Amino acid sequence: MGKIILTGDRPTGRLHVGHYVGSLRRRVELQNSGEYEKIFIMIADAQALTDNFENPEKVRQNIIEVALDYLSCGLDPAVSTLFIQSQIPELTELTFYYMNLVTVSRLQRNPTVKAEIQMRNFEASIPVGFFTYPISQASDITAFKATTVPVGEDQLPMIEQTREIVRKFNSIYGEALVEPDVLLPENEACMRLPGIDGKAKMSKSLGNCIYLADDPEDVRKKIMSMYTDPLHLMVSDPGHLEGNTVFTYLDAFCRPEHFERYLPEYGNLDELKAHYQRGGLGDVKVKKFLNKIMQEVLEPIRARRKEYEKDIPAVYEILKAGSEKAREEAARTLEDVKAAMRINYFDDQEMIRAQADRYERN
Ligand code: TRP
Repeated sequence: MGKIILTGDRPTGRLHVGHYVGSLRRRVELQNSGEYEKIFIMIADAQALTDNFENPEKVRQNIIEVALDYLSCGLDPAVSTLFIQSQIPELTELTFYYMNLVTVSRLQRNPTVKAEIQMRNFEASIPVGFFTYPISQASDITAFKATTVPVGEDQLPMIEQTREIVRKFNSIYGEALVEPDVLLPENEACMRLPGIDGKAKMSKSLGNCIYLADDPEDVRKKIMSMYTDPLHLMVSDPGHLEGNTVFTYLDAFCRPEHFERYLPEYGNLDELKAHYQRGGLGDVKVKKFLNKIMQEVLEPIRARRKEYEKDIPAVYEILKAGSEKAREEAARTLEDVKAAMRINYFDDQEMIRAQADRYERN
């Protein structure tokens, strides 16, 4: 059986460079590797509504932003199916049956749900839709018989929950579902790219993001203002790498060829780090290097975005065609699920005949 990818994002804002190193770059590589039989990339609007139900307009307006970010990063709609979650009603139906397989206490123990309940001050009264979104996420994944789910570390509890549902379903009803594996980002820096202020996470509300759609001057300004090492006051002072945002970004973005192109006096990142720690290397020089790298990475993304921005209706056509294709796939799985649960009454001629026989005999 071929390998199948499913992953996605909530459309609550434009995507930033944290999304890029944490998942988008990898998705494009996986797409271009040719190793996957099918690739599904989902804009998770229904999931976004579980904690934005009072603000559907925000979700609605951000679908196009996320779609443009996907396309501009190099996701190719001819290879990867891009679709919108809410347009696949089969996902909701699957969720309803999976709900029987999960307990309230299991959901309460889900670390991601726990953290989000705290973050959103839901403690006193948790909306049921929000509380059960891990079950809906299991539907997203299993509907496409995904073998591989490339996501960030924060999604691990969701994949574990999905695997439990699959095992339980298969053991009760027979092997209809596929247990997925997670695929995590390549290194620590990619997993948790901090904001430009050094804070743990990039977030719109903190105003510390570099967006994929930022123009070159904005990117440069943001990089030049990055948090580094508060103890590194003079160039000659020894510098520290821990918590130094510029070096974390280099860990995520820098490749050996960047030294040849922009900083040939160093052979690799280890040499640059060693010099910084020794003293004698100024922050501005390192920031300028990072800026050159990031402009190089972001330039083709910006250029492609500009092209797609010229024809927004065409982007919606891509999403529509993708949603139709995704729906066919999910419908097939739903049929398998109903057959396994034996709630496919009208297809079950054998059952109908047996019951007819019984009544005839009486
Ligand atoms: N929970 C994911 C996020 O917040 C989005 C998502 C929804 C997803 N369904 C998914 C990711 C299925 C991977 C697989 O980013």
